[in-house]
Amino acid sequence: MSAHILDGKALAASLRKQVAGECQELRAGGIEPGLAVVLVGDDPASQIYVKHKERAAHECGVSALDYRRGADISQEELLQLVHTLNADAKVHGILVQLPLPAHLDATQILDAIDPAKDVDGFHPDNIGRLAQGRPRFVAATPMGCMSLLATTGQSLAGKHAVVVGRSNIVGKPMALLLTNANATVTLCHSRTEGLAQHIARADIVVAAVGKVDAVLASWLKPGAIVIDVGMNRNAEGKLCGDVQYEEMLEHASAITPVPGGVGPMTIASLMQNVVKAARAAG
Ligand code: GUN
Repeated sequence: MSAHILDGKALAASLRKQVAGECQELRAGGIEPGLAVVLVGDDPASQIYVKHKERAAHECGVSALDYRRGADISQEELLQLVHTLNADAKVHGILVQLPLPAHLDATQILDAIDPAKDVDGFHPDNIGRLAQGRPRFVAATPMGCMSLLATTGQSLAGKHAVVVGRSNIVGKPMALLLTNANATVTLCHSRTEGLAQHIARADIVVAAVGKVDAVLASWLKPGAIVIDVGMNRNAEGKLCGDVQYEEMLEHASAITPVPGGVGPMTIASLMQNVVKAARAAG
């Protein structure tokens, strides 16, 4: 068996094109979709992510409104900025790039975002809606994973999906999305015993651990679909995901590469959420 490569780069480009068309329609109707991007401090990875998000926004016709603040900003000042953006009619979506510097309480900041502008889908209101099967905004990375899964043409109903990683940003919402799609879901994490045995029973594996070789090819059930959310550097300094990609090509029916799989889909999904927010506000 040779796995079908799930090309996130190409799918993301086509989604961004679709979003650009929708933005054009909105603009013709007098609505200028606006995304406020809040970046605190000078974390190099965050700066790169934000640059890519703002570039995609520009390409789609979304106005990216840049709010950069020094690492020494206080909790009260950042909360005040969120309140100001909540009240700003030009702002349809608010994104506070994570991680925030350690002295800030990220939970309190994210909770302060108006759920109707929470295009990251991190607000408890939006997570709760997803849990109840009536989603409004879904976190962009798991949303992108679902779009990639849809391209396989396979129904998820009744399939056994194993998600590895229980973060609020990826693992938990991913497990909810798969559950809502009628998959039978196992959510594994750092304390899981017998990860290999769980993976061996999976028709779909979603790896969101942040560790090289967290999921080995020898564990995989032949024909499984593998979605790799990881973005790591291996011992040679090469960009790689959480799974043994090369070795899995022989066993999986479909797999996402790193880079060029989930990464570009995250940004395209965020743009879809911004358009949705602008539409709802208009
Ligand atoms: N940091 C890593 N991923 C994300 C994301 O999807 N959204 C935000 N706001 N910060 C992140």
